[in-house]
Amino acid sequence: MNTKNIKALKGYRPIVATTAYDAVLAKLADQSGVDILLVGDSVGTTQLGFNSTVQVTLDMMIHHTAAVSRINPNALVVADMPFGYSFDDYETIFNSCRKLIQEGGASAVKIEGGLKLALTIQRLVDSGIPVLGHIGLLPQLIKIEGGYRKFGKSAEEKKSLIADAQALEAAGCFAIIGEMIESEVSKKLTETIEIPFIGIGSGPYCDGQILVSNDLLGFSTEKVPSFVQIFGKVSEEVSKAFNDYKKAVIGRNYPNE
Ligand code: KIV
Repeated sequence: MNTKNIKALKGYRPIVATTAYDAVLAKLADQSGVDILLVGDSVGTTQLGFNSTVQVTLDMMIHHTAAVSRINPNALVVADMPFGYSFDDYETIFNSCRKLIQEGGASAVKIEGGLKLALTIQRLVDSGIPVLGHIGLLPQLIKIEGGYRKFGKSAEEKKSLIADAQALEAAGCFAIIGEMIESEVSKKLTETIEIPFIGIGSGPYCDGQILVSNDLLGFSTEKVPSFVQIFGKVSEEVSKAFNDYKKAVIGRNYPNE
């Protein structure tokens, strides 16, 4: 997969994307034929024990992106720019992206933010860095927003989401993720832009869907967002295996001669 293939999927079939943070789950997801493996800064909450994505650093992102890239997936590997790094001076932003690509092995970076970051994104794209946009709910702004909510309810917010998407398209993003956007606004966005619009908690009328892998796998001890469909029971399986192992050792049923 490359960014051109992803763009070509618009209008052909829905794009399937998920997150990956390590080589094992990345390999399993890739073998199922997903199109995009996003090394999301959700690594902070799903793997690293933080209570938000804000604590995730560039070095952490490079470390996890490299683990995913090492399996040589067919899927496009996209690395998240962590909190704050997109508001550095341009040289620093460029160098952060360069490290995610050169040291992490990513094929593209994801940047949270719309219109405000369009000029920066345009410069990055002009320098050869493919960018996946991200609008709607921006988890990196959780400290400002104070919580999670749906976006696009008011006419004003709908207008500003459309302006964000159009600015990112004009800046050269190869696709845009829209998080927690009202379903009919997502539909409008999908119809308005020519690049793929990939939803998360944004209803069915998008060019594709992305879910956090731990959420969809049922591999979490935390409550998942209400829009998530849990497709597996991985936590249950893992707990059962640990319990069975403990019983076997204590009961001297493992190992045998
Ligand atoms: O970090 C992440 O996993 C994301 C997805 C929620 C899109 O940004």
